[in-house]
Amino acid sequence: MFAARRSASVLARGFATSARVDYKAAVLGAAGGIGQPLSLLLKENPNVTELALYDVRNAPGVAADISHVNTNSLVKGFEQEALQGALEGADVVIIPAGVPRKPGMTRDDLFNTNASIVQGLAEAVAKYAPKALVGIISNPVNSTVPIFAETLKKAGVYDPKRIFGVTTLDVVRASRFLSEIKGLNPKDVKVPVVGGHSGVTIVPLLSQCPAGADVQGEQYKALVHRIQFGGDEVVQAKAGTGSATLSMAYAGARFADALLRGLAGEANVIEPSYVESPLFQNEGVTFFSSPIELGPEGVKKIHPIGKVSAEEEELIKAALPELKKNIEKGVNFVNKA
Ligand code: NAD
Ligand code: LMR
Repeated sequence: MFAARRSASVLARGFATSARVDYKAAVLGAAGGIGQPLSLLLKENPNVTELALYDVRNAPGVAADISHVNTNSLVKGFEQEALQGALEGADVVIIPAGVPRKPGMTRDDLFNTNASIVQGLAEAVAKYAPKALVGIISNPVNSTVPIFAETLKKAGVYDPKRIFGVTTLDVVRASRFLSEIKGLNPKDVKVPVVGGHSGVTIVPLLSQCPAGADVQGEQYKALVHRIQFGGDEVVQAKAGTGSATLSMAYAGARFADALLRGLAGEANVIEPSYVESPLFQNEGVTFFSSPIELGPEGVKKIHPIGKVSAEEEELIKAALPELKKNIEKGVNFVNKA
């Protein structure tokens, strides 16, 4: 980490001028389809002064390449056993490590491979960066986030305010797909998406968006289906070579930027994310994505989901049992005998 200093960009935005803005960000899985463009986008983030790129393969090459971009951060690559160096001192850790889907697979079909990868990385975070804010991209997010949390609990360092499932791609898709229908600029179209990150657990709240409130009938059904199953479009188009990488890198960089701005003390940084949540705990659903206000400690406030339409109530009802099953699967994986 670098000595504390205020950057011109932070002064220009006019918030919390005493906040530290020299953050170390680590990407675990940095040489992959998501990891490479995500790392490039983080190299452009003015709040990142040190960027640690870790992967089981090729991270030093990716780091050497990105390090030539003339922005104000130092990039280092870490491979194989060098995870400690990547994590020590990290303020934000973003994790796109793990295998992607092929056509015909669900995200849950990735569980057997990715559960162990995420568990191993959580053990390392517990040891070397227990205070970091962690964004988990690896699928199935509905289960990998509980796996991460349980692993930190076992190590005695779990802080629910610091662990996030990255669901930003669903928000990005909802904004884009609705804008296409309405002929609007997506920048002006914000659709909250709640629940989880797979199929019916992805619940867009179109009624809360001025541009979405009047979408009805078959058009409404088709739009909800496209948002819930947008990932499949990419998996099919890539025909066996992977799933969304570039749009995910964009979404992951946006979420990392929100974490960093929250850390720096900026007010009103709100992004939907899948976190340990009280909203549906009574129904046994211990993790849920909803708009989260971010701050220097991570989660500052979990916003309620607000007023929803009758259709959205039905969508939430359909999401809850699936989420509960996915969460239990993750928790049981860590706590198996
Ligand atoms: P990829 O295969 O291109 O890259 C994955 C990278 O992880 C590889 O470089 C691999 O070497 C690395 N890796 C594997 N085990 C590792 C370990 N133990 N430590 C560090 N690195 C390790 O895959 P991708 O397309 O980048 O996708 C990665 C994951 O992200 C998949 O599980 C995918 O389903 C998920 N994903 C999530 C979202 C989301 O919205 N949350 C969106 C897209 C993809
Ligand atoms: C997505 O939503 O694009 C990702 O979760 C990847 C996938 O498997 O669809």
